[in-house]
Amino acid sequence: MATLIALHPSYHSSWLEGTAEFAGEHRGGAGGEGWSLMELRDVNAFSKFVADLNADALPESPRKPGYVPCTYLCIVERQRFLGSLVIRHELNEFLLEEGGHIGYSVRPSARGRGYATRALGEALSIARNLGVSHVLLTCAEGNAASRTIIEKNGGVYEDSRRGTRRYWIYAGLADEDGSFRR
Ligand SMILES: CC(C)(COP(=O)(O)OP(=O)(O)OC[C@H]1O[C@@H](n2cnc3c(N)ncnc32)[C@H](O)[C@@H]1OP(=O)(O)O)[C@@H](O)C(=O)NCCC(=O)NCCS
Repeated sequence: MATLIALHPSYHSSWLEGTAEFAGEHRGGAGGEGWSLMELRDVNAFSKFVADLNADALPESPRKPGYVPCTYLCIVERQRFLGSLVIRHELNEFLLEEGGHIGYSVRPSARGRGYATRALGEALSIARNLGVSHVLLTCAEGNAASRTIIEKNGGVYEDSRRGTRRYWIYAGLADEDGSFRR
């Protein structure tokens, strides 16, 4: 069964293989702006990339002005990298209009098997754990697959802005005892 985990250096070769499949297509939720795939072939560079990616979840980590803390996760199954998912801990102006709280992508060879749908479901629990109770999901008007994924996870359509469909999902609130409900 696939699950969401923090990226780890041990996924280097699988991550490289999966990432190459995108062949330039936008890798939603993958992070790593500023790193080229060429340099990430180096094992030491990849370890640094992984450390930076995971550190982005910490509010005190350095980031570009206006950028928000993010939890980057990978969809994996049997040690195989299948895709990426990011949970943005808060919204800035751009994210409120277009980006949303959660972004994701699945490597082309693993598409159409429900991985993204289930990953989003799992991510909603993680978002709730991070204190995000109302989760904004967005997709381009023409992205039928992403639209299906959001609607299957209970997304309530709010509106479309500049070609982007905007949905909200109530992820739930923390209970006082530390457990969570939806
Ligand atoms: C969008 C994406 C993440 C989907 O990943 P996936 O693992 O294949 O998605 P799933 O298998 O969970 O579900 C896709 C659903 O969309 C449906 N779908 C796929 N292509 C479709 C199309 N062209 N028209 C209508 N529905 C479509 C599938 O049938 C499936 O629904 P079903 O479970 O009812 O059959 C993947 O295509 C991708 O990485 N795309 C590029 C990045 C991207 O667009 N990210 C989202 C940005 S908002």
